[in-house]
Amino acid sequence: ADLWSLLPSLPLSSSFSLSPSSVLGLGALASITAYWLVTRPRPMRPPCDLKAQSVAVNVSEARRSAILKDDTLLEFYYDDTRTAYDMFQRGLMISGSGPCLGFRKPGQPYEWISYTEVAEQAQVLGSGLLAKGCQPNPEQFVGIYAQNRPEWIISELACYTYSMAVVPLYDTLGLEAMVHILNLAEISVVICDREEKAASLLENKEKGTTPKLSCLVLFNDFSQAFVERAKSCEVEVLKLEQLMVSWGFAVCRCLNLICPLCFFCSFHFSFFSQGSFEIQQDDVSISYLPLAHMFERMIQVSMFCYGARVGFYQGDISLLMDDIKTLKPTFFPVVPRLLNRIYDKILGSVTSPFRRALLNYAVKRKQAELSSGVVRNNSLWDKLVFNKIQESLGGNLRFALTASAPISPAVLSFLRATLGCLIFEGYGQTECTAGCTFSMPGDCSTGHVGAPLPCAMVKVVDIPEMNYYAKNGEGEICIRGPSVFRGYLRDPEKTAEALDSDGWLHSGDVGQWLQNGTLRIIDRKKHIFKLAQGEYIAPEKIENVYMRCVPVLQVFVHGDSLQSYLIGIVVPDPEVFVDWAKDRGFVGSYEELCQNPDVKKAVLEDMSAVGREARLNSFEQVKDLYLHPEMFSVANGLLTPTLKSRRADIRRHFQEQISSMYSKKAN
Ligand SMILES: *[C@@H]1O[C@H](CO)[C@@H](O)[C@H](O)[C@H]1NC(C)=O
Ligand SMILES: *[C@@H]1O[C@H](CO)[C@@H](O)[C@H](O)[C@H]1NC(C)=O
Ligand SMILES: *[C@@H]1O[C@H](CO)[C@@H](O)[C@H](O)[C@H]1NC(C)=O
Repeated sequence: ADLWSLLPSLPLSSSFSLSPSSVLGLGALASITAYWLVTRPRPMRPPCDLKAQSVAVNVSEARRSAILKDDTLLEFYYDDTRTAYDMFQRGLMISGSGPCLGFRKPGQPYEWISYTEVAEQAQVLGSGLLAKGCQPNPEQFVGIYAQNRPEWIISELACYTYSMAVVPLYDTLGLEAMVHILNLAEISVVICDREEKAASLLENKEKGTTPKLSCLVLFNDFSQAFVERAKSCEVEVLKLEQLMVSWGFAVCRCLNLICPLCFFCSFHFSFFSQGSFEIQQDDVSISYLPLAHMFERMIQVSMFCYGARVGFYQGDISLLMDDIKTLKPTFFPVVPRLLNRIYDKILGSVTSPFRRALLNYAVKRKQAELSSGVVRNNSLWDKLVFNKIQESLGGNLRFALTASAPISPAVLSFLRATLGCLIFEGYGQTECTAGCTFSMPGDCSTGHVGAPLPCAMVKVVDIPEMNYYAKNGEGEICIRGPSVFRGYLRDPEKTAEALDSDGWLHSGDVGQWLQNGTLRIIDRKKHIFKLAQGEYIAPEKIENVYMRCVPVLQVFVHGDSLQSYLIGIVVPDPEVFVDWAKDRGFVGSYEELCQNPDVKKAVLEDMSAVGREARLNSFEQVKDLYLHPEMFSVANGLLTPTLKSRRADIRRHFQEQISSMYSKKAN
């Protein structure tokens, strides 16, 4: 599962198609030559030798970035910018009344709130929170339960302004996890966007499961009935502006402590200061990935630090492409699932053999340029072939960043060519502030997640049971440095599982050092088993392959040592499944199709084809399937809050289907 599965479906319109003009007359040749001369490409200069991107640390088996002068990791890039609060202040200083947060009403252009306005509102709101009993220290947790929008960031900054910590809540967390978090962090104030969300919190309070909750602050209007209902269980309901006006000014300026969120910075600076590449003040990013995740938060803080802008989507993922076209972002944070979708759309839009050949040729030419370090969107091929694709993403993209799940090398290198912008790939997890390795600017090769960031040391440790040994450069990826977290809140047991006594974070991912000092993710620890005939199976690797199938949204691969073959549980992608089936002559609702054995066969064939393409061994291919019409989610207990499959629970949940598949004696 990836970040993308948090979002509802995204119908990409037919916008990803080729430019109409693609017939070259011979007479054009001369002008093309002339054109090439003026637009002659210049290669990008990487910040270090791409053949040696990381180096061994002196007295340990770990490696660090080759950009660093010595083994001292980067903590701060600017000495006076150590916290997320400082980073915003830096942006404020650079940009002042320049635009900061953008939003739009349907069909309208973007409207902007300036840095000065954001800072003022945050300060007033922060004082309002103090007036409601919040304490100005890092042990004070304030909940935010809302979709991405400017008020989210203003609320976050309000907390940072008074050294308080933010706890993001989100729908897919599920009731139980939400109650657990509210109580664990002793949250009394939650800031919400809509009455419905506030109402779900109120329900818990009414049931007596969240006794500490005493104040709900809403962005949107709410009903009087709701206020009454809240009052009867001793919860105060306020509108955001109300808190700012009537309470905020009273205690304004009393306190201005700074929260030591230094980990934020060390990560950020290593992230975006890798030599030849920097964010600029006129950069614009689109915000649509959930702010509850570190990935999106890091991106925003990074933008602020340079006085750049963040525009929010309207909150409806089906309008995202329209928002992008209007905003014209220069930076596109993205997850592999969406890039896969774009890739499929582009290929799907090219039907005639001539245009397909032209596309392939153009991609080859661009890829050849890329391998010599040239990244551009103004080559002849861009004008002739990729122009319309680039325009559907606003036409201003300078860079994109993909993270949260592995991306297929073929898709990445295709999109680097067609989009004509830098596409970085990062690897990390929330526990190390989202990032630990990152592809180097100027490195357009694929199949790895880059070198350690200047804020992290990375090592691999033996996993004997899986036959991975550090001496061969393979093992579980462990991370140490200022961006690594200090532990889970009030949970020493889980903290000890993740962090060893020397401060190494154990990621659970299996990595391999490549010769040029980059890291490749090759496996996941723990989940490995033998089939009856003795072959080892790493189910997650296989699942990642099957995720590439168009009809597949989620997949769970199962087998054990009593069986000689694998089976799968597949949740078809609600957004495309019905159409996909219709193209193959099957008609019915999503649920009906899931029950149709012939549809199942078609999905199985599609998966086998993708599996063969990815060179899965035949024993690694699933031999039977169950199509399940309901997504694995945090709410139904089948995903962890970090969106990884709860494998034991999924196995238990589908025990009946699994037994029945094995009892059928397939092939
Ligand atoms: C690395 O090790 C060598 C030899 O043990 C030592 O002389 C040198 O000072 C060390 N360098 C650093 C940066 O620790
Ligand atoms: C792509 O085009 C935009 C707008 O024309 C430009 O600002 C940007 O720098 C270009 N990107 C590259 C990598 O050439
Ligand atoms: C780094 O090594 C990997 C694996 O050998 C290769 O695929 C990639 O192209 C290399 N990258 C560079 C920039 O040399």
